[in-house]
Amino acid sequence: MSDSESRAGLGYGQLAFILTLIAIIVYGFRPVHRWRLRKIPGRRPKWFTGTLLELRKRGAARTHQIWAREYGPIYKSFGGSRPFVFVESPELVRQVLLTNTYRPVFPSIWLGKEREFDKANILAVRGEKHRSLRGAWTPMFFSGSLEAFSALMNEATDLLLLSVAAAAKSEKYFDIYQAIGRMTLQVVGTTAFGVDFHTQEHDPAAKDCHEDSERLQEAVAQIFSVNAFSFSAWAVVSLLFPVLAPLVRVLALLLPDRGLLRMKAARGTIVNSVAHLIRVHRRTLEKEAGILNGEKAVQTTTRQLREGTMEVRRGVQPGSFIDLLMRAKDKTTGKGFTDMEIANQGFVLVLAGYETTGNALGFALYLLAAHPEQQARLVEEVRRFGMDRRPSYESLEELPFVEACLKEALRLYPPAPTHIRQAARDQEIAGYRIQKDQWIGCAVYAMHRDPKYWQAPEEFIPDRFMEGTPEAAAVNPDAWVPFGGGVRACVGEKFAMAEAKITLVRLFQQYTFELKPGQEPLELRNTITLSPKNGVIVKPSLHKSARMEE
Ligand code: HEM
Repeated sequence: MSDSESRAGLGYGQLAFILTLIAIIVYGFRPVHRWRLRKIPGRRPKWFTGTLLELRKRGAARTHQIWAREYGPIYKSFGGSRPFVFVESPELVRQVLLTNTYRPVFPSIWLGKEREFDKANILAVRGEKHRSLRGAWTPMFFSGSLEAFSALMNEATDLLLLSVAAAAKSEKYFDIYQAIGRMTLQVVGTTAFGVDFHTQEHDPAAKDCHEDSERLQEAVAQIFSVNAFSFSAWAVVSLLFPVLAPLVRVLALLLPDRGLLRMKAARGTIVNSVAHLIRVHRRTLEKEAGILNGEKAVQTTTRQLREGTMEVRRGVQPGSFIDLLMRAKDKTTGKGFTDMEIANQGFVLVLAGYETTGNALGFALYLLAAHPEQQARLVEEVRRFGMDRRPSYESLEELPFVEACLKEALRLYPPAPTHIRQAARDQEIAGYRIQKDQWIGCAVYAMHRDPKYWQAPEEFIPDRFMEGTPEAAAVNPDAWVPFGGGVRACVGEKFAMAEAKITLVRLFQQYTFELKPGQEPLELRNTITLSPKNGVIVKPSLHKSARMEE
């Protein structure tokens, strides 16, 4: 190669470098998207980070509150260079949730089997496949199943009560939020798989619990200990530069960092445990003479679950969620669901069902402990219900005030503080033109506390959800959406409410709770979900009548 040729080569290389640099700099401003959304009010995005830094400083929930006050019911924001349109009024939230049935998928950083696994996720699948999967989930929430599950929820509460009793005896403050988290994980394990994870400290089996369930517990804890994006540097890069996602996937596979390896191991543990349970149960089902179908199968298996002995739960139990799924048909193929698809549903159920319900209960207990007058009303209702009656699913209808307290807690502290959808087609929202595929968010926390839609929005007033009260008459039902709406609304709402009500009834049948001073206002942790940052520290006291019996 001559000198002049190599100089020209270097020149091209430099040019390519400079052009790439300019492209990255320009990309960081997302000029096309900024132009498209120019008429919608909102913060001016910073290069690449967009409006993320402000969001990080105050947490998403409170930042959206500030933006909604400043810009009104529709505004834009930039998650890194990803543009979002947010809505914050009952009418617009309803419109967005009902007309857009796609949930956006964050750029995956997985490849191979890991990526395939994520594709079967009910949260991500679309169209026919979603309808089919959702149809398969639904029998879990028939009243027959919930009646059977309520027995398991009561059992899990028995162990929670032992933790509370220990704290009451020592007259010490303790973190009830943590104890409740262990209980909701047990409920998910027994209802989803019929397997006892032995998560609660007063469970006699917990100390020498099966190695597998200990690992499973650690894996779930690992997945929840991290923010969806901060667990690995690769996930952050993928979020900031969605266009580089395919390259990031390869680099993450070749050069995984510690966070990624840990996450992979945790996911693997859950998936392998679930897959093992499925394999064993498939053999049992194959042996079962004349497999039952449909509603009859549900009734039969849930009865078995209710009546079955509960001491040993080593395999998938008849009537559990996984058992129901293994008997269901995939309407898109006419065949049963694959083991990977079933394993994924179990994985989603653990993730979707455990933390959210624990958070809702944690917030409700915080609010009740902080408002002794409302707590006294709740105890009075529980007294009328019966102080030593185990609540069945059907009997929960007799507890409107317990339900009202939970709903009011979900208003003030929605565990899912924003719902995100992807525009299914071009559409007009509040007079603005929104293009297909645009990510649209509903600022739920902000709307739940907006004085335009709620009187005295920062106050805990359960009467808003008590039929016939003036407070209830003032409520716009579309302004309360902790479980989302439309065909993608939370499929587990009835399950979560049943579990939360049973827990509150059982706790308040024996105790009242005093909040440790210094926790108001409650500090929040805001990742994908909203949770109490430092737990909920309370001191339980036995009711007088229960003390006399002791
Ligand atoms: C208080 C507890 C819970 C809250 C606040 C909650 C909230 C939510 C929200 C906001 C969504 C998205 C809705 C939308 O996009 O419109 C959702 C979806 C979902 N939730 Fe829940 N959830 C809770 C408990 C549960 C439980 C216990 C289960 C399972 C037993 C569950 C399973 C699911 C599933 C599978 C989806 C996806 C539904 C679909 O895409 O078709 N959730 N949840």
